[in-house]
Amino acid sequence: MTDTLLPAPKKLFIKTYGCQMNVYDSDRMADALAPHGYEPVQAMEDADLVVLNTCHIREKASEKVFSEIGRLREMRDERRLTGGDLMIGVAGCVAQAEGDEIVRRAPAVNLVFGPQSYHRLPELLARAHNGARVVDTDFPEEDKFAHLPAATKAVTRSRGLTAFLTVQEGCDKFCSFCVVPYTRGAETSRPLEQVLREAETLADGGVRELTLLGQNVNAWHGLDARGRTVGLGELCYRLSLIPGIARIRYTTSHPLDMSDELIEMHRDLEALMPYLHLPVQSGSDHILKAMNRRHTAAEYLAVIDRIKAARPDMAMSGDFIVGFPGETDEDFEATMQLVRQVGYASAYTFKYSIRPGTPGATMDGQVDEAIKTERLNRLNEQINLQMREFLRSTVGRTVPVLIEKPGRQPGQIGGRTPYLQAVHMDGPERLIGHIVSVEIVEARNNSLIGKIVTDVERNPVSVLESQASAAQI
Ligand code: SAH
Ligand code: SF4
Ligand code: F3S
Repeated sequence: MTDTLLPAPKKLFIKTYGCQMNVYDSDRMADALAPHGYEPVQAMEDADLVVLNTCHIREKASEKVFSEIGRLREMRDERRLTGGDLMIGVAGCVAQAEGDEIVRRAPAVNLVFGPQSYHRLPELLARAHNGARVVDTDFPEEDKFAHLPAATKAVTRSRGLTAFLTVQEGCDKFCSFCVVPYTRGAETSRPLEQVLREAETLADGGVRELTLLGQNVNAWHGLDARGRTVGLGELCYRLSLIPGIARIRYTTSHPLDMSDELIEMHRDLEALMPYLHLPVQSGSDHILKAMNRRHTAAEYLAVIDRIKAARPDMAMSGDFIVGFPGETDEDFEATMQLVRQVGYASAYTFKYSIRPGTPGATMDGQVDEAIKTERLNRLNEQINLQMREFLRSTVGRTVPVLIEKPGRQPGQIGGRTPYLQAVHMDGPERLIGHIVSVEIVEARNNSLIGKIVTDVERNPVSVLESQASAAQI
């Protein structure tokens, strides 16, 4: 990569759509541009460079991109009247899937680049500054993570106490509804040592909770120092040994990759949070087959049984698609039945959206929009009921809470339970960054009210005090 020096300081605004991996990627793009004089700003209107980090997963998500580009073009044209300018970049999964169409339909865009090109961003930007329209949607041979600069302390700090960390990217599963294998490419795992180094930097910046990211995160594998293949369970264990790291989560998992090793780690490793996102999409075997999920509803339930045997207090969340081609009332009832049986604490639900180029797009039996809407409403009603039940079931329990921020009123603080539920309570701000034991006394609509019982933190207080003050900067 050429080391280009651009006129400094320039102001950068990245607008992020889609999943958590895009949130992580946006931070890494900011990291990549920081040495080249780009400073992040809070408002798009203040930026010299706006990057749209896009999502292609459903039609609505992709459509947003073109209307946003239209607004940016107007902003740029207005600035040009007074001698100013604006650089417009489109990154992410729409860029990867529809790069050429963006170039054709949106001449205002200066550069288009896919998720595997983020390490080349400074170089691409330098070319765009020289007047070229730049498109980079290759899947390069080199490891982008090895070429991206390490997350800087300043940037890490602004990320607070919890951080995302991509450990795996891409997907070889090819569910028949999904664009991800085309936008993120083949399944790859980041090397163990590389992940550990990044986690150390994050912990050093005050991070206490890591969420490991991947499209099939539980398929992660790497080699240890002795050349032995290790899985995600071992990675979580190694991460838990890093001073400061107290909580580990991972998302998103595929039921087929839920190994015994990982499940056992849920039994043995306290840092591994008892809250698991394990999408199933449908409760009907006939639909699961058409979706190419490669497992039955019974097999999915058996995986959950194994998990709960290892960790009885495990709460589950999932993803569901209603109205996949061929879905009958009976198929949908099977989904409702599965939702009740698993007792999800939470779930994301979607109407099937046709994605050009995927096998689902040309399948017979596309479902009427009105039926999709009706099924989605029924499913959401059931899931909302279960979410509220789960929230209420926490009342009376004493749970560890990671204190994350000051509360809305003076003298109050807020944090999260192992199940990601928001808790508000009376307490001093110096507890920010600590995990304290909290009795849950009341459930509101979307949050809990608690009372601090005692400090359950086991790590040395001196380390924690410095982290707490770092987090408040
Ligand atoms: N395994 C992936 C899933 C990515 S997509 C991951 O890393 O998160 C997230 C969810 O979007 C899927 O689980 C699915 O429920 C939903 N989804 C994907 N494609 C869809 C489509 N064409 N229409 C509706 N929902 C879709
Ligand atoms: Fe998409 Fe299926 Fe891969 Fe998840 S496992 S990213 S839903 S193809
Ligand atoms: Fe969207 Fe790409 Fe994530 S399509 S969900 S941004 S992997």
